Amino acid sequence: MPMSSTAQMASLAVLIISLVFAALASDAAAGVRVELTRVHADPSVTASQFVRGALRRDMHRHNARKLALAASSGATVSAPTQNSPTAGEYLMALAIGTPPLPYQAIADTGSDLIWTQCAPCTSQCFRQPTPLYNPSSSTTFAVLPCNSSLSVCAAALAGTGTAPPPGCACTYNVTYGSGWTSVFQGSETFTFGSTPAGQSRVPGIAFGCSTASSGFNASSASGLVGLGRGRLSLVSQLGVPKFSYCLTPYQDTNSTSTLLLGPSASLNGTAGVSSTPFVASPSTAPMNTFYYLNLTGISLGTTALSIPPDAFLLNADGTGGLIIDSGTTITLLGNTAYQQVRAAVVSLVTLPTTDGSAATGLDLCFMLPSSTSAPPAMPSMTLHFNGADMVLPADSYMMSDDSGLWCLAMQNQTDGEVNILGNYQQQNMHILYDIGQETLSFAPAKCSAL
Ligand SMILES: *[C@@H]1O[C@H](CO)[C@@H](O)[C@H](O)[C@H]1NC(C)=O
Ligand SMILES: *[C@@H]1O[C@H](CO)[C@@H](O)[C@H](O)[C@H]1NC(C)=O
Ligand SMILES: *[C@@H]1O[C@H](CO)[C@@H](O)[C@H](O)[C@H]1NC(C)=O
Ligand SMILES: *[C@@H]1O[C@H](CO)[C@@H](O)[C@H](O)[C@H]1NC(C)=O
Ligand SMILES: *[C@@H]1O[C@H](CO)[C@@H](O)[C@H](O)[C@H]1NC(C)=O
Ligand SMILES: *[C@@H]1O[C@H](CO)[C@@H](O)[C@H](O)[C@H]1NC(C)=O
Ligand SMILES: *[C@@H]1O[C@H](CO)[C@@H](O)[C@H](O)[C@H]1NC(C)=O
Repeated sequence: MPMSSTAQMASLAVLIISLVFAALASDAAAGVRVELTRVHADPSVTASQFVRGALRRDMHRHNARKLALAASSGATVSAPTQNSPTAGEYLMALAIGTPPLPYQAIADTGSDLIWTQCAPCTSQCFRQPTPLYNPSSSTTFAVLPCNSSLSVCAAALAGTGTAPPPGCACTYNVTYGSGWTSVFQGSETFTFGSTPAGQSRVPGIAFGCSTASSGFNASSASGLVGLGRGRLSLVSQLGVPKFSYCLTPYQDTNSTSTLLLGPSASLNGTAGVSSTPFVASPSTAPMNTFYYLNLTGISLGTTALSIPPDAFLLNADGTGGLIIDSGTTITLLGNTAYQQVRAAVVSLVTLPTTDGSAATGLDLCFMLPSSTSAPPAMPSMTLHFNGADMVLPADSYMMSDDSGLWCLAMQNQTDGEVNILGNYQQQNMHILYDIGQETLSFAPAKCSAL
């Protein structure tokens, strides 16, 4: 009965879409506000340990992306972030299932999948800060069938002419630079929102249940929420046309950052807003997950750096170019552009340079006269995007360490790889991803007061 099962498939797909839409329209007319906390609140973690942890995590993540790019199979999805207790990730508070089980997940604009560890997860699980979610204790859990439009397995079979076998549940293995996690896809009701009044429960969210993994050593997060452009991401599944976040400064370990989903994400009435169009990904998955921007140049103070015009050129396979990413901490630039930035910083600083790479993993460090010395004043750095200048004060591109190291919070990589605007450079800005308008807007902000 191929005709009737096709028709059923179509009507179920419509049903899922209208349910999600109805849930958002009824109890979240103003959108959803979610608190984000930064991983590094532990006061025993020094700034340099923090940077090292963040860099190690960033590196795993980039390896994972390279793997994902290399694999043309749809079953290898853009890999979630490697966890490390000292890394500069932002955790999103949400809850899964019925009754809702609260957990914290890394908020990641650089990937799509929503996932958490699921019981039974006996031998090969990483430590997580919240109790393990058990699908059999939730009345709203369902295995996501392989013929669902959100099934990773259906995507993998698309174009092969093979239909998923009836009753099939999609299980797959996500590989990283240094590990793997085995995931099956489920469907659940998720609860978003920081306050009971502002809470929104959304049924039918496709997510990954991780039942075994290796190569993780986490304690800070119980999973990940992808906010990328792919169909599995939270923003795609909710169908929200925009979202925004505002990340509190790294020095401020007390206040929480904010993520706004839906209509409440707005910069209306905010002073100093700049906007730049997103650049469409020239390539398919996993690169079409990313929010590419058109970076045309960099200035330090009033000096435009002599970066060749092709330094940020986006290639047909999605490499090159620049993406904005909440899940990477330290901005990564191709070596040609990086060396111009490095030289410009060195030319303005009279302090001796020092090899701080062992302590911080960063390439350019200076030694302050003492561990309590204030760093010298530096002009702002401007990232020139198509139609918008993003002005980074010194504290958003230089990083101090409690031992007197003062380092450029940027890293170099081989030219031609994807350049990444990391979250350290995004602090103190309200950043709006307007998917409907295909623009990124941003304005300086006091994020703790948002
Ligand atoms: C998926 O397949 C099952 C079993 O063949 C069928 O009952 C169901 O309606 C299908 N769902 C969709 C979305 O096609
Ligand atoms: C996932 O892939 C890794 C690396 O290829 C392999 O070592 C591991 O056994 C796989 N895990 C499962 C559950 O298949
Ligand atoms: C995980 O991290 C802890 C503390 O950082 C360390 O003691 C432990 O050996 C690590 N475990 C693995 C498997 O790497
Ligand atoms: C953060 O909180 C701690 C203890 O609650 C307090 O001692 C400290 O002054 C606060 N720091 C800032 C920057 O507000
Ligand atoms: C913000 O402004 C735009 C256009 O000026 C308007 O369409 C939108 O409704 C406004 N949003 C809010 C939340 O006021
Ligand atoms: C990037 O912006 C420049 C002008 O600022 C424009 O000439 C160029 O076409 C843009 N490139 C893309 C890929 O949008
Ligand atoms: C990064 O820069 C350092 C010196 O600043 C250089 O030694 C290294 O080769 C560069 N790495 C890459 C990948 O270009």
